[in-house]
Amino acid sequence: MPPLVLRETHIMQIEQIHAAVLAAESSLNKHYWTLFSIAYGLQAQAVFEFGAGGSSAVLLTALELTGGTLMSCDLERLQDLVARIPSLREATQSSRWVFHHEPSQDVLRNLRGQAFDLVLHDGSHEPDQVAEDIAGILPHLKQFGLLLVHDVEQFALGEEMRRGLMEGIRRSGRRVSMTSLPYSDGLAIVRMEDACVAGRIQTTWSKATTRPAAPAAIPW
Ligand SMILES: C[S@@+](CC[C@H](N)C(=O)[O-])C[C@H]1O[C@@H](n2cnc3c(N)ncnc32)[C@H](O)[C@@H]1O
Repeated sequence: MPPLVLRETHIMQIEQIHAAVLAAESSLNKHYWTLFSIAYGLQAQAVFEFGAGGSSAVLLTALELTGGTLMSCDLERLQDLVARIPSLREATQSSRWVFHHEPSQDVLRNLRGQAFDLVLHDGSHEPDQVAEDIAGILPHLKQFGLLLVHDVEQFALGEEMRRGLMEGIRRSGRRVSMTSLPYSDGLAIVRMEDACVAGRIQTTWSKATTRPAAPAAIPW
């Protein structure tokens, strides 16, 4: 297999992601390789993000390889985010990125029939808003698609984040499976088990010698 050309086609260089993961800071940065790996593994074509920042640059780096697009929303203006987070500068040039300087509830209201393979929630930390975000986005998540929610085990905010997440799932009426990565404030991994009009995950990753595996709903 030819080596991947990493420097010219990537929003964030591999070394930058790695340095962020290894940094002393322990927040979403520790999950950057997870974000990259999940977006790449799903061969994500459409990703939605509540709260833009370093995570946007990481996701766009994976989407350069999968050919997908990222839709992000944030209350902060893009130029202010870029001033604070230099790794976003290159991302602003990417045709793969749609940034909405709008509250999540306004963006959700205008989503119409869009379907996503992957969603990252790292936006509002108010439980009512989290519940509204989760209830609003789950109908747009493809079957076997993943919703990642940060801070569900954060020492101060974790309980409210979990309450918002569970309320959002309940309101959506969708059947999901779930776990959480128990470090760096916790990253919930919620998998959509229900078939939905939004379609189903289509990843090409399987052994070349066998037919593609069909995802099976959990619990088995
Ligand atoms: C923890 S920071 C985002 C971090 C980002 N994922 C990163 O990797 O740097 C949370 C962001 O969510 C945004 N935010 C909070 N409430 C929001 C809402 N209701 N709609 C959209 N963005 C929101 C804030 O402006 C803030 O920039």
